Amino acid sequence: MNRLRHDGPLVVGAGLAGLSAALEAARAGAQVLVVTPEPLLNACSSAWAQGGMAAALTAVDSAELHARDTEAAGAGLVQPDVARTLTGVGRQTVEWLAALGAPFDRDADGGFVVSLEAAHSTPRVARVGGDGAGRAILSAVVAAVRAEKRIQVWDDARLKALAQDAGGRVVGAVIARGPHAKRIEIAATAVVLATGGAGGLFAATTTPSALKGEGMALAALAGADLLDPEFVQFHPTAIDVGLDPAPLATEALRGEGARLVDGQGRFLLGAEDDADLKPRDVVARAVHAARMDGRGAYLDARAAIGDEFPHAFPAVFAACMRAGLDPRQSPIPVMAACHYYMGGIAADADGRTSVPGLYAVGECAATGVHGANRLASNSLLEACAFGRRAGQAAAGEIGGGRSLPAQVAPDLPEPATAELRAAMTAHAGVVRTAEGLAALIALIDRLQAEHGPAAPLLAARLIAQAALDRRESRGGHYRADYPQTAARAEHTRVRLARPAAMEAAE
Ligand code: SIN
Repeated sequence: MNRLRHDGPLVVGAGLAGLSAALEAARAGAQVLVVTPEPLLNACSSAWAQGGMAAALTAVDSAELHARDTEAAGAGLVQPDVARTLTGVGRQTVEWLAALGAPFDRDADGGFVVSLEAAHSTPRVARVGGDGAGRAILSAVVAAVRAEKRIQVWDDARLKALAQDAGGRVVGAVIARGPHAKRIEIAATAVVLATGGAGGLFAATTTPSALKGEGMALAALAGADLLDPEFVQFHPTAIDVGLDPAPLATEALRGEGARLVDGQGRFLLGAEDDADLKPRDVVARAVHAARMDGRGAYLDARAAIGDEFPHAFPAVFAACMRAGLDPRQSPIPVMAACHYYMGGIAADADGRTSVPGLYAVGECAATGVHGANRLASNSLLEACAFGRRAGQAAAGEIGGGRSLPAQVAPDLPEPATAELRAAMTAHAGVVRTAEGLAALIALIDRLQAEHGPAAPLLAARLIAQAALDRRESRGGHYRADYPQTAARAEHTRVRLARPAAMEAAE
């Protein structure tokens, strides 16, 4: 294996969180190496975000109101101080991105145009081109990264393991680079994980299917504390046209009055104007139930949006038309699909984890901001705001000792991955039971016996076991056999013993 010494932080992942961290670390004077498996803007969830970035931007809104909505959505598990830290920098974060060139929609007076999404008490989602926020925001950050001489990007490198010194400090990472997956151990002053979520563990997902919780799994193997691994958010309006991943029909469509109906045109959640803007978990369960009992689930935008569709929601319109479906003429078939991972590597607002030298930002991190149910469009805000803070903090790290031989997990072959994904959607999806979760864990045991302790299997096990252990329903975690919510909201905290049975990297 080749070895390389990089005198600065190593950022793993190039979505909004990773690149915001890289940019701030570089601006603080550090030399930054970013490694990512795909060219910038490809296959990261940030670029696919449609709704936008939540922030208190209007005269009737405030950071405090935004924090209260965040807490209410999070069903008892949001950490209030972290939520306030985040919402307090909402406007500043949007303006930082606008200054980088993110072309947020503006009104005639130059103010930000904001959309209404579920569980927000006022319109507050800053958007770009209707439904193109993620790609437009990330493009501005990518341009700034490319212009920054202190940042080097390797866009053909996949994380395989974290390297630690004898004291347990993370001192680098092993990556597989290029078409031949050449292994390189990179020594760095700190490692910032920005590896995204776990949507690819599920057969039905709106996120890039390559993201299978590997960052969380490798951090867990390095001894990092995890927080609430059972909490997965399912989006109620993934477009059901047989694609993997499924295209998203943004919640902003419902904010504009599009309605959820069954195959007979009956409202799924009631006739009131705001019935379809209930919290995301409630709407996802209604869509799931309608499909399970054969009524079907559709998003009908004909009356509310109609001929405005191509202009108002160009990305959703294009996805529908590619599938041969004109949303001006017909309701859009929808399903609930994995959309966001709320659990993950326990981290503070600066991205610090329980392991020295290791930072986690964005969807792989669990900072306590999302609790049991993330408020829509808080993720881009968190990715950028806490990514920036983590970059500043990581820039100040000076590194550790010599690395011990790193332990590299085996890959999971494709047929086993497909089996795992189907079982995760069936048993750790919108509705969970003890019986289903036990069957899922038995499958993970078998796949591990056949293929070794692959990182996606560990991530899936962490989710399934925590879901089995949580004998209540709360936010995105719904147990049909324990439908009640416990009076006291408790976090799940997990720390693994360092395993012995893994392949040594060399
Ligand atoms: C959406 O546009 O519906 C998704 C927004 C989000 O998940 O934050």
